[in-house]
Amino acid sequence: MRVHVADHPLIAHKLTYLRDKRTDTPTFRRLADELVTLLAYEATREVRVSPFEIETPVATTTGIHLASPKPLVVPILRAGLGMLDGMMRMLPTAEVGFLGLVRNEETLEAHTYANRLPEDLDKRQCYVLDPMLATGGTLIAAIQYLVERGADDITAITLLSAPEGIERVQAELAHIDLPVTLVTGAIDERLNEHGYIVPGLGDAGDRLYG
Ligand code: PRP
Repeated sequence: MRVHVADHPLIAHKLTYLRDKRTDTPTFRRLADELVTLLAYEATREVRVSPFEIETPVATTTGIHLASPKPLVVPILRAGLGMLDGMMRMLPTAEVGFLGLVRNEETLEAHTYANRLPEDLDKRQCYVLDPMLATGGTLIAAIQYLVERGADDITAITLLSAPEGIERVQAELAHIDLPVTLVTGAIDERLNEHGYIVPGLGDAGDRLYG
């Protein structure tokens, strides 16, 4: 898995307010939305495009648009929903698939409780959205689920990641010989004994949706 930390002062600035426990839910939602828009810029650097001709008021020229079939955006329910609108603003013609995964807070294992994905995953670039990569269990389960259904080009976008989680994803996906990329706003210090990212931002799902 390629890991790209989107190291940019605007991202660090917005993450600072996202982390702050005094930030209320409406502000948290707005910041998550803005952050994913900035991260999408990095994450879509290799989005497939095709050329087409347009006329400017002066001349004919060749431009590009997104190739078909369009990319698939997959927010991981529930917290990933807080990143969907920001991503779709950048890729308005993308399609959306849903994957519901929840982490058991005792075992820290993720399990799938819902999915709604198109059949032709083998033809699409998939963009997985989840605010946090903590132990990595959720992202591993999501990627394995997509790969089993044919996906072969996956980019995950997280706002924050833990080093232990990234290592675990690397180790568990080592046998998958596919281009998988992680674009994240920051790699934090560590995980605590409860599987929370330190310093982190707490529980993204709770801060987005209560
Ligand atoms: C949180 C978060 C990630 C996951 C990360 O979701 O949104 O999906 O935990 O943890 P991991 O890397 O250790 O698997 P949660 O299970 O709390 O569900 P929610 O999005 O419904 O709140």
